[in-house]
Amino acid sequence: YPSNPQMGEGSMLERANCRAKGGAPGFKVAILGAAGGIGQPLAMLMKMNPLVSVLHLYDVVNAPGVTADISHMDTGAVVRGFLGQSQLEGALTGMDLVIIPAGIPRKPGMTRDDLFKINAGIVRTLCEGIAKCCPNAIVNLISNPVNSTVPIAAEVFKKAGTYDPKKLLGVTSLDVVRANTFVAEVLGLDPREVEVPVVGGHAGVTILPLLSQVKPPCSFTQEETEYLTKRIQDGGTEVVEAKKGAGSATLSMAYAAVKFADACLKGLRGDAGVVACVFVASQVTELPFFASKVRLGRTGAEEVYQLGPLNEYERIGLEKAKKELAESIQKGISFIRN
Ligand code: NAI
Repeated sequence: YPSNPQMGEGSMLERANCRAKGGAPGFKVAILGAAGGIGQPLAMLMKMNPLVSVLHLYDVVNAPGVTADISHMDTGAVVRGFLGQSQLEGALTGMDLVIIPAGIPRKPGMTRDDLFKINAGIVRTLCEGIAKCCPNAIVNLISNPVNSTVPIAAEVFKKAGTYDPKKLLGVTSLDVVRANTFVAEVLGLDPREVEVPVVGGHAGVTILPLLSQVKPPCSFTQEETEYLTKRIQDGGTEVVEAKKGAGSATLSMAYAAVKFADACLKGLRGDAGVVACVFVASQVTELPFFASKVRLGRTGAEEVYQLGPLNEYERIGLEKAKKELAESIQKGISFIRN
């Protein structure tokens, strides 16, 4: 589905490639699940990103419609749509970055783990495609439960012989975005001035905000610490309940996904000092995967930072987080191995 059928795909891609070569940095980005609640606003925001020269929108439904719509935006990226499994190869070939928000979201009363059965299979299929068509691409995995889908993706890539731990990134930026917002509210600051590291994983108690390391330096009462930690951990549920069965966070998630994808692209471009929190293969704890601050570079997550000094409250939180995370990681690994 070229965005302009009259013009033909060849010339459009040539144009996009030219732009990429002509000094202006241009990366090729695919969104898998692009017609969904997250996928659509994410596609719109990526079409606005000047670092993107080609944007591939893949879904099993409605990809042509979303593509036609987005393609009318007068920004640089050339948009192409891909519908259904038979077009997955075309969607993935040549991509630098693949963002995956495909899969079902939560309804009230569900945990992220309740999504495992359906989303695990979707992630497996999509990652098999990535291993085949763009094994060097950076992968931003949004589909829940992230604590299990990242290990699933790693196992798929290992099986295919293409696994590069630096390039498989579980998106936890929404936890950071929420933490910045809620902490700014308590401190009476502009959220843009606040930086909260959030480590661990992306579900309930595995989401561990490090309030002792907030920038600008500040302190919280015990009551504030407990309120903020709980609100950050339950941020997703807050949205699921407010939407009353119509899904989970989509708009704030698209914003957070673009913030992270943009950091990945800046890293790919070679910018210095690009740092973000993400769920990644890690030696920071005894677990094989853990979210913490990483430095993003030309080859992905090039450096995984240690957690830094934790206070007593955070040390207790860390133990709880690790216990649940270990189970979720194992569940993902077993899904592929057994
Ligand atoms: P949605 O149901 O609105 O959209 C999902 C899209 O995926 C649909 O368009 C659907 O057709 C598509 N899809 C299903 N199977 C597919 C396949 N095999 N290949 C390609 N596309 C496929 O759901 P929404 O709200 O966009 O959420 C998507 C996922 O993101 C969910 O798993 C949700 O739990 C997760 N999520 C993750 C967050 C995070 O912080 N990492 C935050 C919020 C949601």
